[in-house]
Amino acid sequence: MCGIIGYVGAQQASPILLNGLSKLEYRGYDSAGIAVYDGQALNVKKAKGRLKNLIDITKNGSEPTGTIGIGHTRWSTHGRPSDINSHPQTSGTGNVAVVHNGIIENYMELKEFLISTGVKFISETDTEVVAHLFEYYYDGDLLSTMQKVMERVDGSYALGILCKYHPDTIIAVRKESPLIIGLGNGENFIASDVAGILNYTRDIYYIDDKEIAIVKSGSVEIFDMYSRKIEKEIFHVDWDIEAAEKGGYEHFMFKEIMEQPKAVLNAISPRIKDGRISLDISLSPDELRGFDKLYIVGCGSAYHVGMVAKYIYEDMLRIPTVVQLASEFRYSNPIIDKRTLVIVISQSGETADSLAALREAKRLGATIVSIVNVVGSSIAKESDHVLYTWAGPEIAVATTKAYSTQLACIYMFALFMADSLGKISEEEYIAFIHALLKLPEDLKTVLELKEVTQKLASYYFNAKHIFFIGRNIDYAISLEGSLKLKEISYTASEAYAAGELKHGTISLIEEGSPVVALMTTEKLFDKMLSNIKEVKARGASVIAVTLDNARDISDEVDHVIKIPYIHPMMEASLAIVPLQFFSYYVASMRGCDIDKPRNLAKSVTVE
Ligand code: M6R
Repeated sequence: MCGIIGYVGAQQASPILLNGLSKLEYRGYDSAGIAVYDGQALNVKKAKGRLKNLIDITKNGSEPTGTIGIGHTRWSTHGRPSDINSHPQTSGTGNVAVVHNGIIENYMELKEFLISTGVKFISETDTEVVAHLFEYYYDGDLLSTMQKVMERVDGSYALGILCKYHPDTIIAVRKESPLIIGLGNGENFIASDVAGILNYTRDIYYIDDKEIAIVKSGSVEIFDMYSRKIEKEIFHVDWDIEAAEKGGYEHFMFKEIMEQPKAVLNAISPRIKDGRISLDISLSPDELRGFDKLYIVGCGSAYHVGMVAKYIYEDMLRIPTVVQLASEFRYSNPIIDKRTLVIVISQSGETADSLAALREAKRLGATIVSIVNVVGSSIAKESDHVLYTWAGPEIAVATTKAYSTQLACIYMFALFMADSLGKISEEEYIAFIHALLKLPEDLKTVLELKEVTQKLASYYFNAKHIFFIGRNIDYAISLEGSLKLKEISYTASEAYAAGELKHGTISLIEEGSPVVALMTTEKLFDKMLSNIKEVKARGASVIAVTLDNARDISDEVDHVIKIPYIHPMMEASLAIVPLQFFSYYVASMRGCDIDKPRNLAKSVTVE
C-alpha cells in the first residue's frame, strides 16, 4: 500500500526522498510525489505511474531544492490514479502539504463542512480534507493545530505534514497505520516502514496510535493528544539493507523462495533446545488447559497457513479449531470468550482486517498469540504473546519465505501445546522434532525442483485456467498454490477440495485443462487417484505432486513432481515450493511484473 517518507536536515531533501520512495516501491503503488520547502514556498512535484516519472520531472532529484520535505507513493483508494490525486495534497493557499496512508472515513462530511467555509477542492481524494482542515484550524502552534484536526477526522491514518509557517518542522502522526521516526545526526526522517530509511539510519522510534511527533533536524519530540510529552525507547534495526536488496537475483520473489531453508532454520533452531521445543511464550499448562477452542485468523496466504494449522491442531490436540478470514471474522459475531485462544497470523503485522480481528477477539476476552514477521508491528504489539517468524524482510508482494516460516511456527506451537497438554507420546514428539530439524535440509532439496517446474511452466504458461486439487492439508496447499499463480501471473485459477469437484466444478474441465493434483497426504492417496481419474476422463492434463516414497503413478498422469517424505503433518512446507516456482516461471513467461503485481500491495493497511 502507500508509502511515506520525510526528511529534515542539512542535505538536499529531494534525492533522499526519491531514494526512500524507491525502497518503498515494493509495497505497491500507482503514483508518487514529493513536497520540498525551497526557502519561499512548498514546492510540490507529483506524477501518476512508476517512480521513474517523478524522477524525470524532478530532474533526477535536482529539484525542488531545499533541506526539508515529504514524499509519498500512492495506492489509490479514493479517486483513480492521476497526477492530481497523487500526494502530497495541499491546502488552498499551498501553505500546507500532506502525505497520507490510510482512509479518512468521514471525509465526505468534512468536505461538505469545508466547502461551506469557502474551500475549493481540486482532487477526488479523502486526504485533501486533512490539508484544508489543517489550514482551517491553524492557530500558530503545530501541536494544538494537529490535535484539533485529529479530533475531527475518523478512520485510519499515518500522516506527514509540512506547514510553510514552520519551515524547519515535519509533523508526523498515526492511527492504525504504521509510522516510524528515523534518528540521524543533525537530520531526522519519517517513514511508513524501515526499508525507506535504512540507507541513512538504523535507530528508530515507533510511533503509537494518536501520538504526534514534531520532527526537526536537531530534535524529535513526541506528544499525546493532551500535549503530554512521551519518552520513547530507541529501537535499533539489526537487519542489513542487503537483506532488502535483490542480491544478484532478477526478482525479490525468486530470492525469497531461495532463502526459505535459511529463513526456516532461523525460525526453528533457536527454539529447539536439547531436543525440546522452547518458545518465548509464557502460557503455562494450566492456562493452556483453560482453552476449549482455537480460532485462527489471517488474510490471503496467512489464512492458508491457518487452514494447514486447523488440520494439524484438530488432529494432534483434539481441540475444535475454527479458521476464518480476518475480513469475515470482524463482522461475523464470533463465538469467543476467555476460554478461546486466538492465533493471528500476519507477515506485516499491519494488515487492517487482521488487526481489527485481533482487537475484536481481545474485546471478547480471548487470549491472543500472534505469528508475525515484522518486529514491533501493531499486531505484535497488541498481542498477549508473539511468535516472531524471523524470516527477515520480505519485499515481493507474493509471500514465500514468510509463509514457510509461519508454517514452521504453527508446527512448533502445535508441539508446544501437545506436550504441555499431554496429548502426544514421547515417540511421536521425538519424530516431530526430528522432522523439524530436518526441514531446512529438505527445503534445500526441493529447491532443486526449479528446473523441472520451469519446464512445466513452459508447457502451461498460456493456459486460460489452471485448477489445483487436494484433500486435507493438500487442499490447504492447493489454495496457496492457486493464489500464488493468480496474483503474480494473472492466470485464472481455482483450488478445490478434490472430493468436491463432482459437486459442480468438474463441469469446467475440458480437453487440455491443466490440473495440479496434490497427493502428499498418504492416507488419502487412493482417494486422490480416483479424483485424478475423474478429471483425466474429461481430458485434463494432470501434474501430480507426490511423495518420493509413494506408488509410481506416472502412467496415470501427465507429469509427476516428487518431494521428500518428511512427516505427515509437515508436507505443506515442501509441497508448496514447486508451486511457488511454477507460479514464478508462468508469470515470467507471461511477462508479468513479478514483484509488484498490478493492483496489489504488500501490506494491506486499509479495510
Ligand atoms: O501481511 P499479512 O501476512 O497480514 O498479509 C496477508 C495477505 O495480504 C498476504 O498473505 C497476501 O495474500 C499475499 N500477497 C499472498 O502472497
